[in-house]
Amino acid sequence: MSVVFTRSEQHHKDTLKAWAQALSGTAMSTFNVRVSEHVQVLTNCFHKYSEEAAPVNDIVSRFVFDVLGDVLFSKKYNLVETNGWHEYFDRRKDALPVLGPINDVTWLGHLMFLLAPFWSRVRDWFYMVDYSVQTMQQRFEDDSKGPRMDMAAYFIDEYHKLEGVYDLEKRNLHLQGTAVTAVIAGSDTTRSALIVALWSLAQYPDHAEKIRDEIRNVDLNDPVALSALPHLEGFIAETLRLLPPAMSGAPRDTGPEGLLVENILIPPDVKVTSPKYVMARLPTAFVDPNEFIPERWYSRPELIIDKRAFAPFSVGARACVGKPLAYTELRLVVANIAHDFDVAFAPYYDSQTMWLDLKDQVTAQPGDVKLIFKPRK
Ligand code: HEM
Repeated sequence: MSVVFTRSEQHHKDTLKAWAQALSGTAMSTFNVRVSEHVQVLTNCFHKYSEEAAPVNDIVSRFVFDVLGDVLFSKKYNLVETNGWHEYFDRRKDALPVLGPINDVTWLGHLMFLLAPFWSRVRDWFYMVDYSVQTMQQRFEDDSKGPRMDMAAYFIDEYHKLEGVYDLEKRNLHLQGTAVTAVIAGSDTTRSALIVALWSLAQYPDHAEKIRDEIRNVDLNDPVALSALPHLEGFIAETLRLLPPAMSGAPRDTGPEGLLVENILIPPDVKVTSPKYVMARLPTAFVDPNEFIPERWYSRPELIIDKRAFAPFSVGARACVGKPLAYTELRLVVANIAHDFDVAFAPYYDSQTMWLDLKDQVTAQPGDVKLIFKPRK
């Protein structure tokens, strides 16, 4: 029933409306302020590490959960501030290894959920679903206490408007599906992108310096102002190109007529996928495809041969609707961290660990990143 799983084009179109409103310019202008506050807390957290190595993956997990909890459900987790933990993180870690391999074989997932509901990894997946559903339920009940400005407000509004269109069970399932989609699509993807962005600040100090040059005289709490900075935008684009958070997945059906690609006919009703990680590193699409060159996105366009190969948020009707929120987080985090710190790899840490231990489990799971955040004077 959720936007991402519906197969009916009309239903997808109808369902997308609430999402478009929930992440519209109007909604984002409120969310931007809240994300910016979370970024201040994140920056303070790195200051507390002083020059000790910070476990970036855990801290970013907390940050993303804090932001999504706030923006989606008006829920204050304060995990970064309290150095807290949520059971969701452990359950997610245990559930993903089994979801990764069946990403493109959804019927196998259904079969597994039916036949092995007691298998611990399947239970971990159900925990993630239950967490999302219950949090939305709680938010739904809180609605009677007064209006809240969050994404859930739009989904609850949609729920009420669907009265008379769907029966109660269908409406409940729809709201639950939306909650699960929002939590899963909105957290792991952004987590991966932020981890890689912080790693890249350490790996490419010259690019961090160029960002510092750009952010002088710019309001660091304003993601809209930051969006006009070409090197920052190029830095984020290279981060998403070299490790797209949705690395492979997102299959499509060729439909009843099949699909003609460069004079090759792919037969009807075949599942096809365009793996984003592979496409974005094609030498036919990018000059020096494995090199991190932010300038290719503004001053050196000759380094881009075929821009279509860059699609970290996918394209077309089913493209990511959460892009504005993801970009707000990326812009604010990269700009503020580059402003406050010289970022370096921890002395005993092998910088390649992030790549060597990387896993493609529906979303990218980068290996551990350990960084030193040295405050700048
Ligand atoms: C860097 C962060 C993100 C990346 C790289 C990303 C990537 C993607 C991609 C590739 C798709 C298309 C999947 C497909 O083709 O089937 C998608 C869909 C979607 N994303 Fe994101 N996403 C990110 C963040 C978010 C956030 C923050 C949210 C919301 C809170 C979100 C919500 C969604 C939803 C609802 C869809 C389904 C759209 C539809 O089917 O019409 N995403 N995302």
